[in-house]
Amino acid sequence: MKGVVLCGGTGSRLDPLTRVTNKHLLPIYDRPMVFYPIQTLVDAGIDDIMLVTGGNNAGDFVPLLGNGADFGLKHINYTYQKGAGGIADALRLCRHFVGRDRVAVILGDNVFSPGVAEHVRGFSGMADGAVVFLKGVDDPARFGVAEVAGGRVVGIEEKPAHPKSNLAVTGLYLYDHTVFDLIATLKPSGRGELEITDVNNGYLRRGSLRHCLLPDGIQWTDAGTFESLHRANLLAAEFRGKGRP
Ligand code: DAU
Repeated sequence: MKGVVLCGGTGSRLDPLTRVTNKHLLPIYDRPMVFYPIQTLVDAGIDDIMLVTGGNNAGDFVPLLGNGADFGLKHINYTYQKGAGGIADALRLCRHFVGRDRVAVILGDNVFSPGVAEHVRGFSGMADGAVVFLKGVDDPARFGVAEVAGGRVVGIEEKPAHPKSNLAVTGLYLYDHTVFDLIATLKPSGRGELEITDVNNGYLRRGSLRHCLLPDGIQWTDAGTFESLHRANLLAAEFRGKGRP
């Protein structure tokens, strides 16, 4: 399975921290934000990664990550998203990298506790379709929110005003190579972006979306707002206290 880390976008919700640099280069506790999603993929056994960057200071990822050897990667590849056309627009750039393989996609501002890797590995035999990883949260309206009935996801809404559940769709997704055909059919949303929620609902309509509800022992946060960035720092300090490399 290939891995993709998405580090485009404007990071506008963290202005002025992101006025002159890329959000994913900001520190979370003792390391740059981007280290966390890369480590999550590495822990899941993925050693061939594409990093999509964009916006300011895109070139700074190269001296920071080099050839990926510090993470034990076989390859690290880089590409650049012009503008901030959405998560699915950034993933679109990885078509040739993924080829006929499957791909684990992670958002560059998502921090998971290390145990998530075993849940990803649980799908290593998956031949086709998609998997989303859900987590119960107190503030679902900030996220993609999944409605689950009869053990299946029956719908996902992006940032709903009235969430149908407290189950956030985290920024970690597994797809087969047909994801790129699906992205090619998408139209920009009201906020002008190609939405990853539309991709996931596309798999849902085909009957090939699976989900994994992350248990209480697995912690997760994004880091795209001041409040969540603060939470990510606390989480990262806690992992380090438990001996995470
Ligand atoms: O964190 C999980 C949430 O992430 C999901 O629940 C939502 O369904 C999903 O839409 C997303 O919501 P956000 O509004 O928080 O996404 P944001 O615009 O902050 O982008 C998250 C990451 O995606 C960002 O750190 C880098 C990448 N990205 C984003 C955009 C808009 C790109 O690479 N390119 C982009 O154009």
